[in-house]
Amino acid sequence: MSRIAVVPGSFDPITLGHLDVIGRAAGLFDELHVLVVHNPGKTALLPIAQRVSLIEQAVAEAKLPGNIVVTSWSVGLLVDYCTDVGAKVIVKGIRSQVDVAYETPMALVNRDLAGVETIFLLPNPAHAFVSSSLVRQVASLGGDVTPYVPGAVAHFLQQS
Ligand code: PNS
Repeated sequence: MSRIAVVPGSFDPITLGHLDVIGRAAGLFDELHVLVVHNPGKTALLPIAQRVSLIEQAVAEAKLPGNIVVTSWSVGLLVDYCTDVGAKVIVKGIRSQVDVAYETPMALVNRDLAGVETIFLLPNPAHAFVSSSLVRQVASLGGDVTPYVPGAVAHFLQQS
């Protein structure tokens, strides 16, 4: 039986921190689904299709393993997607105690709703302070985001 995991997130846009976690998780499972999910608590910068495309480009650029599927989900709960594809595990990156506090209730709800477990991976310390919101702010004020995002994202933000 295939071990399938899901890395969900807003990915608005994907950062090098996300990519690091995706690469680590891909080595732990037979199939890894990177899932762009609308977060109702956030105002998005990029359309979902654009975020998916940038993740696909970033995964290819980093030459990550071929067991990674990139897609999106906007019709219901994250655990509905997990159940549909037979994924029993959600993987999230944890940078700090703030992330632990933010992620813990979601992990408990997802386990309660559908028995889907969440595992947390620690990032490469070099990316521990990087966030999509920081990248959006730096980019919007004309700063250089190349140290924080995959090349495809930096290129896209420079064009926008
Ligand atoms: O990158 P983010 O914004 O921190 O990701 C949060 C996300 C999108 C994974 C979370 O908001 C989510 O799972 N949304 C889907 C709706 C859902 O299933 N909610 C109940 C469990 S929190």
